[in-house]
Amino acid sequence: MIGAPMETKGINANGESKAKPSRKEIIEKKKAMDALLKAASSEKDHLSAFPAFRRYQANGLSALLESGRGDKLSSTLKHYIQNLLKANMEGLYGSEWLVEEKVKRREMVAPEARYIFVREPSNASASDMLTMSEQERTSASCEERGPMVGFVHFRFVIEEELPVLYVYELQLEPRVQGKGLGKFLMQLIELIARKNHMGAVVLTVQKSNSVALNLYLSKMRYIISTISPSQVDPLIAIEKSYEILCKAFSNEAKAILEEPLEKVHLA
Ligand SMILES: CC(C)(COP(=O)(O)OP(=O)(O)OC[C@H]1O[C@@H](n2cnc3c(N)ncnc32)[C@H](O)[C@@H]1OP(=O)(O)O)[C@@H](O)C(=O)NCCC(=O)NCCS
Repeated sequence: MIGAPMETKGINANGESKAKPSRKEIIEKKKAMDALLKAASSEKDHLSAFPAFRRYQANGLSALLESGRGDKLSSTLKHYIQNLLKANMEGLYGSEWLVEEKVKRREMVAPEARYIFVREPSNASASDMLTMSEQERTSASCEERGPMVGFVHFRFVIEEELPVLYVYELQLEPRVQGKGLGKFLMQLIELIARKNHMGAVVLTVQKSNSVALNLYLSKMRYIISTISPSQVDPLIAIEKSYEILCKAFSNEAKAILEEPLEKVHLA
């Protein structure tokens, strides 16, 4: 995870100074956040709360979504993820790719990694898959379930002392891009974050990725977070090839991740 801490401690969501929390309060808060992360991470299938999101059908594309986790990936899936990342991201990362590829390879299999996988089933199998139980669905063969067309890798983590859902990857194959699937997946991610009491959705985007920046900033109303290098220090920002974006849900998260420090003081 990337991002430098901001000096917002001691200021509440209305910009007023507040008493420094006691050691006991800090420990209690940390415990509560750990419990939230544990509960969110122990959910086996985040799609079960949102059955309408199991299937995407629009713009000539039909796709089925399923849940996964980093420590349960088959070697076929690991290869699929690595190949799609390379195909989509190598050009955007340029000379940073060799290092980044290794980092992504490690991140991919972490026990905290949660996935939504997207498959494009044959017309015949699509309706069968939807009526199957989760167990039947996962035990169906890859041929029966149809080819993979993309995935989201996300995690429940603490960022700036807040519980957040961090989107590590959102990757679609070129043939299914521009058909509304990316937006649909991000809408699902926001629902999962809210349901699990996360303060915000946070993600990192390469500055050169104009399609993704357009999707998040213009279409989905994310903002460049106050913890993004460009907001922390323009000198650091020159060396950094990414921005950190966020959409905050709670007042506390808005104050920490979205509002510039000056604005918090003036409020
Ligand atoms: C970025 C990505 C996830 C977006 O998903 P997508 O399914 O292609 O995007 P969508 O079809 O949902 O488009 C969402 C909006 O962005 C716009 N958009 C999509 N592709 C676009 C393009 N090539 N140029 C301009 N606008 C585009 C659409 O018009 C749409 O707006 P609308 O809802 O007003 O019609 C997908 O293109 C992708 O996987 N790219 C490669 C990997 C990548 O860059 N991942 C992001 C890393 S942070």
